[in-house]
Amino acid sequence: MKRVVSGIQPTGNLHLGNYLGAIRNWVRMQDDEGGCLFFLADLHAITVRTDPKDLRANIRAMAAALIASGIDPARSTLFPQSLVPEHAELAWVLNCIARIGWLNRMTQFKEKSGKDREGASIGLFAYPVLQAADVLVYKATHVPVGDDQKQHLELARDIAQKFNTDYEREVFPLPEPYILGRAARIMSLRDGSAKMSKSDPSDMSRINLTDDADTIAAKIRKAKTDADVLPGDMALLEPRPEAKNLVAIYAALADLTEAQVLAQYEGKGFGAFKPALAELTVAKIAPITARYNELRDDAAYLDSRLRAGAESARAVAGPVLAEVYETVGFLPR
Ligand code: TYM
Repeated sequence: MKRVVSGIQPTGNLHLGNYLGAIRNWVRMQDDEGGCLFFLADLHAITVRTDPKDLRANIRAMAAALIASGIDPARSTLFPQSLVPEHAELAWVLNCIARIGWLNRMTQFKEKSGKDREGASIGLFAYPVLQAADVLVYKATHVPVGDDQKQHLELARDIAQKFNTDYEREVFPLPEPYILGRAARIMSLRDGSAKMSKSDPSDMSRINLTDDADTIAAKIRKAKTDADVLPGDMALLEPRPEAKNLVAIYAALADLTEAQVLAQYEGKGFGAFKPALAELTVAKIAPITARYNELRDDAAYLDSRLRAGAESARAVAGPVLAEVYETVGFLPR
């Protein structure tokens, strides 16, 4: 059976990288398959210091942003991870399967802990094990994510495999990262070598799904580019990462291939391309922003949907955790 599961951290705003790299695919999978589970990774959010008031507001804001983007809580199970205790319970068991050497190789930990490795939380180090539990607790088969999460998903497969081998029982299917090529890695508008990210201190580096038309136009106008015109061949954009990124964003938003975009803009400079990109971005984002603005202050509605989602998620996770407990030798739950 196909089981689609994915999550997003409720920190900061939903940005164009999240949307094009992951959320849009969540919506498509929801429409094609039904029965998907999507969660707000609030347990992951506290691996770095987080203000409680901000976190609670961000959980609701991210839920509103996902619903505004097309996740339908009546068709998909949408919930905060913390309200499904089976995630944390399975994570403990998997902590005893994963090896320190495997976690030492995780590039995200190296990036996030920076020079202060000794001062990082144990939660930040063990983060990928919780991420493995997030998908394995539902016996996920397909996990739609952006390219930056690939390494974590490969670790989840290694953990699942080792669990099955150690206990000589095929408890977990190996989850497949589902990464859709073109928009899998949207880069910062200020630096074509860094990914667009919620944690970038410069708000000019990203387009938030909550930005209004003027802000979007200004961010695209000021996006770093070069003085050359656009070529007819994508290969010629390799040494021009900022230009390549804008073409990739255009292609993803317009549902075209990059070659089709270049066929349209070959020989034109950014003076012509940027206004067209701004117009397209606003046209695609404005309906999401409008819906988000309607939903975001309705805490009662959001909380009730999230609680109902958590109940449904527990109904799936409970039996899987019971199977794991039985497998490792705990008394029956
Ligand atoms: P997070 O919250 O950083 O990002 C959510 C999703 O957006 C994708 N994404 C991008 N895609 C393309 N270009 C970008 N610039 C870009 N930035 C972010 C991410 O790949 C992700 O799919 N650890 C995860 C959350 C998580 C999770 C999980 C995901 C926790 N448990 C289990 C899948 C399965 C994270 O921090 O994503």
